[in-house]
Amino acid sequence: MTISARSSSLVALVAGALLLVGWQVQAESNRVTFPEDLDALVHYTTVRRGNVTEHILTTPAAIEAIRNRQPAPAGTHFVLVDYRGGQLYRYFVMEKGEGFGADYDERRRTADWQFQWFWPDRSINTNENTARCQSCHNRQAGADYLFTARRIPRFNGTPIE
Ligand code: HEC
Repeated sequence: MTISARSSSLVALVAGALLLVGWQVQAESNRVTFPEDLDALVHYTTVRRGNVTEHILTTPAAIEAIRNRQPAPAGTHFVLVDYRGGQLYRYFVMEKGEGFGADYDERRRTADWQFQWFWPDRSINTNENTARCQSCHNRQAGADYLFTARRIPRFNGTPIE
């Protein structure tokens, strides 16, 4: 190996390490916690797409608030339980908390909601940059950042499909 080839592979190695560090910083855990008791949440709608089935759940207090045309209160969890081919694949969780929005700059912020991806063992997917979740849910800013909340007023005990 010539000296210049060796030093350029060193440069690539350092650049790779820096990239890895940057990426780990983006994939930090945040203030979202996995809900203590999934059974205490209400399964209000199911979304099916090919072999994907999503059960969407939230707290009784959020159901009540949204029925009354109020925003979901602080302390609310929304959980999207994602099944692939009938097997649990992952959980997507949104949590609203007092001051959660202050963790992000204005462009990224989704009011006081934060987002997280959990594996079936409830560990965090550290490869995910949750800015992606926020950027898509930002489209729903006019609906408290939620896509399916408008189904809640029609919910009468059987998950809406
Ligand atoms: C490209 C757009 C997009 C991205 C990215 C995205 N979502 Fe969503 N999300 C949706 C849509 C659309 C729905 C409604 C359900 C459906 O159609 O699958 C939804 C529903 C949800 C729900 C149920 C509450 C609601 O809004 O109806 C949660 C919780 C959720 N997403 C969390 C997340 C998390 C966590 C991430 C990132 C790991 C994420 N989402 C990334 C589009 C997105």
